[in-house]
Amino acid sequence: MSVTISIADPRLSGRAVRRIVYTQQQIAGRVREIGEEIAKAYPDGDLLVLGLLKGSFIFLSDLVREIRRPLQIDFLVAASYGDATVSSGTVKLVYDPETELGGKHILLVEDIVDTGRTLNRLMDLLQARKPRSLEICALLHKHVAAELRYPTRFVGFDAPNEFLVGYGLDHAENFRHLPYIASLQ
Ligand code: IMP
Ligand code: MG
Repeated sequence: MSVTISIADPRLSGRAVRRIVYTQQQIAGRVREIGEEIAKAYPDGDLLVLGLLKGSFIFLSDLVREIRRPLQIDFLVAASYGDATVSSGTVKLVYDPETELGGKHILLVEDIVDTGRTLNRLMDLLQARKPRSLEICALLHKHVAAELRYPTRFVGFDAPNEFLVGYGLDHAENFRHLPYIASLQ
């Protein structure tokens, strides 16, 4: 379902967005469901939710409040080189979690899976640290180039193959603060 923006949103400076793809209400409803799914999927053990910065920061902060079980939170900062809109596959960790990963359930939280190259590299790195389990939670999945070698256990929405912004997702660092997800013109 798409909703045409009828009001001028003062958060949008000059550049208009084409359409709202997921409204604030749709996102909140789905985040609540994923939170419940996650709580059910981990009946015991230590759960460490690892947010991949910066894109996942809003999703992660809403999501953890919907997971009704004990958990810990840390972040990963990965830098990929090359074009801003196409993933190069060369990924370097610029911030590595201080927390011990061994023996814990690790849930890697990502904003959007496009080619899957970023996650392939990060999952390889994390797997090497011998967690008890390692799963991916992505708010959006484009399902276009299925290069991802790991399953995405928890997915918010199967996203259209358009460039999306808002709710943490950026274009050249803009639009992350939109409370909805929109398609860029
Ligand atoms: P991948 O390595 O190709 O899967 O790219 C994933 C990363 O590219 C995400 O974490 C985003 O930072 C960025 N990305 C991919 N598609 C979009 C989009 O539609 N909007 C904003 N960022 C995107
Ligand atoms: Mg980005």
